[in-house]
Amino acid sequence: MKRYKKQETAFIHGGIYGDDKTGAVNVPIYQTATYQYEAPGRFGGYEYSRTGNPTRAALEVLAAELENGTDGFAFASGMAAVTAVLSLFKAGDKILISSNVYGGTFRVLEDIFKNFDIGYILADTEDLTALERVITPDTKAVFFETPTNPLMRIADLKGIASLAKKHKLLSIVDNTFMTPYLQRPLDFGIDIVIHSATKYLGGHSDIIAGLVVVNSKELGEKVRFIQNSAGAILQPFDCFLLLRGIKTLGVRMDRHVKNAQVVSDFLRSNRAVKKVYYPGFKDSAGYHVNAAQAKNGGAMTAFELKEGFSVNKFFSALKMIVLGESLGGVESLICHPATMTHAAMPEHIRKLAGITENMVRFSPGIEDVDDILEDIGFALKASKR
Ligand SMILES: Cc1ncc(COP(=O)(O)O)c(C=O)c1O
Repeated sequence: MKRYKKQETAFIHGGIYGDDKTGAVNVPIYQTATYQYEAPGRFGGYEYSRTGNPTRAALEVLAAELENGTDGFAFASGMAAVTAVLSLFKAGDKILISSNVYGGTFRVLEDIFKNFDIGYILADTEDLTALERVITPDTKAVFFETPTNPLMRIADLKGIASLAKKHKLLSIVDNTFMTPYLQRPLDFGIDIVIHSATKYLGGHSDIIAGLVVVNSKELGEKVRFIQNSAGAILQPFDCFLLLRGIKTLGVRMDRHVKNAQVVSDFLRSNRAVKKVYYPGFKDSAGYHVNAAQAKNGGAMTAFELKEGFSVNKFFSALKMIVLGESLGGVESLICHPATMTHAAMPEHIRKLAGITENMVRFSPGIEDVDDILEDIGFALKASKR
C-alpha cells in the first residue's frame, strides 16, 4: 500500500492500488462468477462473486478507508444499500427518520419494511431535545441525512451520535450529498454511513451504485452476512467505474462546490426567487453546526420561486441544464422534488417537511459557471406567469 497524508491522494492511491500480478495501475475488472477450488472446501480467497470479487474488494477497502470505517460494502444501488442496512432490524423495532429523508428511503420503510413490522417515526433531527422526546423502548435506530434532501437542513452529527449511544440506538447517516471528501460522519461517532454512489462518488451519471461503511468489525460481519445472503452486490464493471470516478472526486467536488456557491448567491439576488436553501450561507439556520462538521456548505442548492412565477415555465426554458432525477454528475442536473424525487412521499408528509410545489433542487455541474448562470438566468426570466 502506498503512503499518503491527504484524502485527495487516497482517492487515487488508497485501498488496493493497481494489480500486483501485472503492475497494471488500475485494478482489473474480474468479470467472473466463480473461482476454481484447490480441493473440496479449499479455495484461494475467493469462492463465488456474490460473496466476494477482487474488483469489488478494492472498492470496498477504499470506501472503508475514505470514511474512516472498519469495513465497506458495495451494493447494486443506493437503495440496495439502504435496504441492506434496514435489514439489520427485526419485527417490532422502530427507526427514527427525519421527515425530509430521500423519498425512496421513505418508500422502502413505508411500503416494504412496515409489512414486516419494522416501523418508523418521523422526527426532527435538527432538534436534539425533540428527537430525544420521541425515543421509546422499541426505538432501535436513528436514520438521517445532513444536509437533508432537498431543504438542506443540518443535523448535528456529534449530538445525534451521543444521543444514540445514550439510548443504545444505531446511528445511520446517508452521506450522499456531502461525500467523504466534505464530511465523515463516523469521525463524529456515527455507526453506519450509506451512499448513493450513483451521485458524486461515481460522478458521471453512468452507474447506479451504493456503498455502506460501518464503524466496527461486529457491524461489518452483520452487513457482510446480509450482503451475501440478500445478494444485491455491485457488479465488477460498475465497481471499476466507481473506482475510476472516485479518483477525481477531490477536483470535481472543489469545482462543484465553487459553482454551487456562485449559483446560490446569484439565485438569492434574482427577483423571481423567494428563498434559497444553501448551508454555505453564513445566515442559514444550520451554518455553524455544518461548519463544525463539514469542509464547506457542499455542492447542492435548492430554491423556491415566488408567487407569480411558474416552475413548469422555468424548467421548459432551460437549454443546457438537464431536468432529471439524479445529482452529483459532471453535468448540471435540476429537479422538481414534489413530482420527482419526493413523489413517493404522501402529500401531507411532503407539506409537513416543507417541500412545496414551487421548490427546485439544483446540482450544479462542473461546467463553466458563466454558462450555468446564463441558462438559469434566462429560465428565471421566462418563468414569469
Ligand atoms: C440522498 C439519497 N439517498 C439515496 C438515494 C438512492 O440511491 P440510488 O438511486 O442509487 O438507489 C438517493 C437517490 O437519489 C439519494 O438522493
